[in-house]
Amino acid sequence: MSTLELYSLKSELLHAIAEANDLDRLEEVRVAALGRKGRVSELMQALGSLPPEERKAYGQVVNSLKDSVGEALEAKRRELTKTALGQKLATERADVTLPVREGPLAEGRVHPVSQVTDEITEIFAEVGFSIAEGPDIETDFNNFTALNIPPEHPARQDHDTFYLPEAPDGTRPVLRTHTSPVQIRTMLREKPPLRIIAPGRVYRSDSDQTHTPMFHQVEGLAIDEETHLGHLKWVLEEFCKAFFEVPQVKMRFRASYFPFTEPSMEVDIGYAKVGDEFRIGEGDDWLEILGCGMVHPNVLKNVGLDPERYQGFAFGLGIDRIAMLKYGMPDLRAFFSGDLRWLKHYGFPPLAIPTLAAGLS
Ligand code: DAH
Repeated sequence: MSTLELYSLKSELLHAIAEANDLDRLEEVRVAALGRKGRVSELMQALGSLPPEERKAYGQVVNSLKDSVGEALEAKRRELTKTALGQKLATERADVTLPVREGPLAEGRVHPVSQVTDEITEIFAEVGFSIAEGPDIETDFNNFTALNIPPEHPARQDHDTFYLPEAPDGTRPVLRTHTSPVQIRTMLREKPPLRIIAPGRVYRSDSDQTHTPMFHQVEGLAIDEETHLGHLKWVLEEFCKAFFEVPQVKMRFRASYFPFTEPSMEVDIGYAKVGDEFRIGEGDDWLEILGCGMVHPNVLKNVGLDPERYQGFAFGLGIDRIAMLKYGMPDLRAFFSGDLRWLKHYGFPPLAIPTLAAGLS
């Protein structure tokens, strides 16, 4: 390329740069000049085919062309960026005094069962209980046998069990009928002292206004060398006061029977129904909310603990029941029918996380 041609290319490119009126166009010009297949780059590649004595001078000229074009591009880029920003600032305005638009966080609701589970967890965490878990599909051993309910035991009939098809070893897995098998899992896995609660889903073939085939329980278990019935009563009383957020609760411990505890008790809580509202700790009506007792020596033996050395208490509480009571929700079936209007009414804002310090509800 002659010197003249080089000059005219340079002025052509500089002109194109000067004419570019936005950043996109400028980029096009840059690619056409300095891109891998751009015109300046092509000139550079031609260097190789020149006789050696011409290469140096030619290289210098093309390099200086490249520099000038590069500088012009950069200067133009800065100028265009500045005007682009100026334009944006002039045309786009945000009214910072407008209220924040409601997002999914404001729309969504936490199901009362989840909320109440969190409340229960928070209360027991405060007195040193940790969370344990087990699967919904349980072995017959964990759900029954280890809990002192051997195959022919009549208590099996109370459970309206959903059985699954037979496993290869001839046993039939079940949908757990209570959270008590988590006691077994925990004691098989960890050594005392133990303090756990195990919230979760349980299943029984039963359905009416106060029973659904799937419902929720929370299991409690404390095992060590000293825990006695007095501790159990204290823990449950303190729990009820904290949960219902009242200074005093009326509780009734009735002697009862469970195969896995001895002695066993059922606990009722006193309430009055005023209109649609339940007043906890007042009135003369009683609602059964939990079963409890001292862990049966056979259960301890079944998990390899020495009942002469270890003892403790257990309880099983109906989460849905106490949720109904606390928040005045009369029909259990509505809990699981997936009606958005119900959830909007009874559900909790997602950031209303229960803490003892800030109030549970
Ligand atoms: N598992 C029992 C049920 O679902 C409830 C229960 C009673 C659990 C006594 C316990 C207990 O841990 O000690 O009917």
